[in-house]
Amino acid sequence: MSHPRDVKQILVTGGAGFIGSAFVRYLLETESQVNKVVNLDRLTYAGNLKNLSSIESDPRHVFVQGDILNGTLVEELVRTHEIDTIIHFAAESHVDTSIANPRLFYRTNVEGTLSLLEVVRRFRHIHFHHVSTDEVYGSITEGEFSEDSPYRPNSPYAASKAASDHFVRAYAHTYGLIVTLSHSSNNYGPYQYREKFVPKMIEGCLARRELPVYGKGINVRDWLFVEDHVRALWIIVQKGEKGESYNIGSKCELKNIDLLQLLIERVAKIKGVNPKKYTDLITYVKDRPGHDLRYSLNCQKLEKELGWSPSQPIEEGIDKTIAWCLHV
Ligand SMILES: NC(=O)c1ccc[n+]([C@@H]2O[C@H](COP(=O)([O-])OP(=O)(O)OC[C@H]3O[C@@H](n4cnc5c(N)ncnc54)[C@H](O)[C@@H]3O)[C@@H](O)[C@H]2O)c1
Repeated sequence: MSHPRDVKQILVTGGAGFIGSAFVRYLLETESQVNKVVNLDRLTYAGNLKNLSSIESDPRHVFVQGDILNGTLVEELVRTHEIDTIIHFAAESHVDTSIANPRLFYRTNVEGTLSLLEVVRRFRHIHFHHVSTDEVYGSITEGEFSEDSPYRPNSPYAASKAASDHFVRAYAHTYGLIVTLSHSSNNYGPYQYREKFVPKMIEGCLARRELPVYGKGINVRDWLFVEDHVRALWIIVQKGEKGESYNIGSKCELKNIDLLQLLIERVAKIKGVNPKKYTDLITYVKDRPGHDLRYSLNCQKLEKELGWSPSQPIEEGIDKTIAWCLHV
């Protein structure tokens, strides 16, 4: 294992979103050696300053509303705050929206990443960590994807993330930039925007609304608690090998319908009602076009080389998410 890097002044992109804000909270709440976290976020519909309210009085946090495509702004932030590390979360992240509006995903995820890389080219000391997804590998019926598996993105979202990954690799190879990449499975947890499956279903139960499930509900995803993800990212940023990528998953594969049953059970238990009240709300709807059947990651590289493992049992992670949904 390499020596931990000295990480002092960090630029986080997309730090008002779901995972980015969890990362910023984690850093400021647990890592006293970090001097500054500059948080650049455009505040699209998915960004919310309330996600950062627990750390708003921390003087080490500098929030800047702006676009990652604004290279002049990014360069100014890097210079002014003597940034040594960039952690790049900012993205359009919802697959359904990418099917309706692929160009938006090209702009933010591909051009946005390229724009950041152009700045890093001028500041070669910066370590650039790129937050990517397991969806770049495509769907797998049996077995699991390793970091060396070929890319086979199937949705416009996955294609945009794959293209951005390729630019990160190419810039590292061509211009000698210091980069690391990570591919995580589906995240869930507090502060997730309600368009995503877990909060949508919990809120559906609480409001006694229909619970729409794509197709037959048999698509399998590996569900990772967001706090396990951000802990993994911090380990990779500090100790990951230059140029390497790391899969981050939780060995918690569930069919959508089974996850929904679990969500229903936990909400019913907390609310003290019969789960049937919620099960009756399940409605099967027309499947998403090109819906990947199964994602599965082999995460031995991260576990063996950097010593990370997931720690949150799904039932507890869901209960924490329900508690958050009940209080917003
Ligand atoms: N959510 C998941 O399950 C998951 C899984 C694997 C990887 N990822 C990746 O993790 C990252 C974060 O995902 P998330 O779920 O937190 O997303 P999110 O949609 O909740 O947040 C994205 C954030 O980026 C900001 N943003 C969007 N366009 C911007 C721009 N042009 N300039 C500056 N900021 C901009 C938004 O305002 C928002 O705060 C993404 O790169 C995503 O691809 C997510």
